[in-house]
Amino acid sequence: MDAIDSAYRCRRCGRRLSGRDGELSCPNCGATIPIVDGIPRFPVPDGVGDSSHETFFDRLAPVYETPVWFRPLYRFIGGATAPRDDRSTIASMLDLEAGAETACEIEGDDEDEGESEGEPEALTVLDVACGTGRIARRVAADAGAVLGVDISGEMLERAQRYAAREGVETVAFARMSADRLWLDADAFDRVACCWALHILPDVAAALDETYRVLRPGGRFVGTTLVDEYVLDLAPVRAVARGTLGAEPFTVSELREALRAAGFSAIEFDRRGAALFFRARAE
Ligand SMILES: C[S@@+](CC[C@H](N)C(=O)[O-])C[C@H]1O[C@@H](n2cnc3c(N)ncnc32)[C@H](O)[C@@H]1O
Ligand SMILES: [Zn+2]
Repeated sequence: MDAIDSAYRCRRCGRRLSGRDGELSCPNCGATIPIVDGIPRFPVPDGVGDSSHETFFDRLAPVYETPVWFRPLYRFIGGATAPRDDRSTIASMLDLEAGAETACEIEGDDEDEGESEGEPEALTVLDVACGTGRIARRVAADAGAVLGVDISGEMLERAQRYAAREGVETVAFARMSADRLWLDADAFDRVACCWALHILPDVAAALDETYRVLRPGGRFVGTTLVDEYVLDLAPVRAVARGTLGAEPFTVSELREALRAAGFSAIEFDRRGAALFFRARAE
């Protein structure tokens, strides 16, 4: 997991963090990040760590991957036309197997070729707001290394446990907020963010951070909620807002937000109130 370890960067001074004695530390400014149960716990912006989101998702963690939560909710939101398995859809949108060729193709349009020349190397993936690691585990087999980040300690502990139980060794998890990533610029080939953009308090900052950590030509893929279909109904929106703190986008709002962060080649596929998206970093 060298690719992940070398991606950790100090947000105070920009230096690479080094790991020893159960913590990560900055050799320059002395910042230290505790590693608890194998999970580095990075500082999160004021107000995020104690937000109601965290409390809600901490409580949800034990049932999140059981038959009572995600799947029925996904069918309700996605409707009859939603893909049966969003993980396969996300995995294919990430296009990990064709990664090296895609990188050449995209970069070939511009001046900057050669970065991946002769490298059949598997790609690095960041899963933002990874929850229990459903997506991270699903894509790990096709990726070189996957890092899942989330603010919920309970979600992350399960993510770690489920990955160990399934023998998935190329995935690591860290506590980090989507809008303040302790990660190097251009460190990842792909970023996924599923079912989370609509609950983030600072979407613009999270998209800026996603763009920053993606290498030029890298892809951003995910799903979010839009105010269509069931979420067009005021009572359903009220429940979504009251329980999840969800603020569904309109498709054009999300397009504008992605553009403002610098993304191009933005593609959408809406199924019910579920919006699958894909975009490219320049
Ligand atoms: C509906 S879950 C989605 C989990 C996972 N992506 C999936 O598709 O199963 C939303 C996740 O966003 C996380 N989250 C909320 N605010 C966050 C933030 N500021 N930074 C990172 N993760 C956050 C929650 O803790 C929760 O695990
Ligand atoms: Zn530092």
